[in-house]
Amino acid sequence: MSATPALVGKSPAPGLDDVVAAETMLSHVDGQAGELVVRGHHLAELADWSFEQVLELLWSGQTAVKITAQDIRSQLGKARLRTFERMQLLLPGLSALTSVEALRLLLSSLPDDETTPHHIMAVAAVPVFAAAIIRNRQELAPIAPDASLAHSADFLRMLSGTLPSTEKVRALDTYLTTVADHGLNASTFTARVIASTGAGLFSSVVGALCALKGPLHGGAPGPVLDMLDAIGTEAEIEPWLLNALGRGERLMGFGHRIYRVRDPRADVLKHTVSSLKEGSDRIAFAGKVEEAALALLKEKKPLRPLQTNVEFYTALVLEAVGFPRGSFTNVFAAGRMAGWTAHVLEQERTGRLIRPQSRYIGPHPR
Ligand code: ACO
Repeated sequence: MSATPALVGKSPAPGLDDVVAAETMLSHVDGQAGELVVRGHHLAELADWSFEQVLELLWSGQTAVKITAQDIRSQLGKARLRTFERMQLLLPGLSALTSVEALRLLLSSLPDDETTPHHIMAVAAVPVFAAAIIRNRQELAPIAPDASLAHSADFLRMLSGTLPSTEKVRALDTYLTTVADHGLNASTFTARVIASTGAGLFSSVVGALCALKGPLHGGAPGPVLDMLDAIGTEAEIEPWLLNALGRGERLMGFGHRIYRVRDPRADVLKHTVSSLKEGSDRIAFAGKVEEAALALLKEKKPLRPLQTNVEFYTALVLEAVGFPRGSFTNVFAAGRMAGWTAHVLEQERTGRLIRPQSRYIGPHPR
């Protein structure tokens, strides 16, 4: 074998740190300043937008047809109904699966010859599937979508069967818009790699979901609540955290590859959860755990202390609006589907296969 000397010699960046692998107009994460900009808007501005408005922002210019937030709301409603009809046959097979495995299976069932625009269908599908999966685990029948409602309102209605309060709809909308897009994170990169092969949007977002489900990415918020429950009382906060760190465990909801300062999404969600009536004791306790964890993490790494990430307050918001913790990754997927679909459309427009090189460190043939 003749190894290409240039490739043998090049050092890879472990974890692709600082490697620029795509150009995007969608979002920019400034890890030093702790800022997230989505198509020219600071994250804090988007907190008051509806999810449909953020979809309009992300999808704008990515397809030949221009659609407004109002069009998106009505097209999502129709697509939720269509997804619900398609899903019925598959529901009995889900009981043995975890929530995210069930979502993976249902998302995979969306056919490439679907006539609804695939980005609309993918965004519409996740709340329908996620709500049905939660109810299936509670041995309850799924609730059909109401196409006239906004996306977040219908998501909560499909969960409980009753019209949610404006306050809860607003909180879920803020959550979905806050996590809608975040640069070239692991799941979005996965989606772009698959899209670059021409495999289609549904395959791309199934791959993205598989990347999201890991505990180092979108699998963290459920374990945040497990951690709060395991700590239990105020007196136990510091000893529990010290023990966990002593065993080399990671505290869920802390640390980030890009942010060197506080994740701006954590602040938006902290504000959101504080404005809800539900779970004020939980929120006060979580605040004390956060404070103690930050102090201990600062002692551990004084030069680059780890900070709170989005998942810490995600857990509190999603619990307060009524989602069971096993479903949190699926609700994350409902928001991030906005970014995944926009990135897939953007990647497809480049027409360029993503095909990096590896550095061979194995033996050479004699
Ligand atoms: N708790 C304790 N120590 C931590 C934590 C944590 N949460 N995160 C990182 N560290 C430590 C590591 O053990 C490592 O220590 P060492 O240098 O002594 O070996 C050091 O900090 C650097 O860690 P890396 O793994 O190199 O940091 P990386 O940038 O790869 O990790 C990650 C980022 C995966 C988010 C990490 O901080 C983590 O595992 N956090 C907990 C899980 C979590 O909250 N995930 C959600 C992330 S947000 C999102 O994806 C939407």
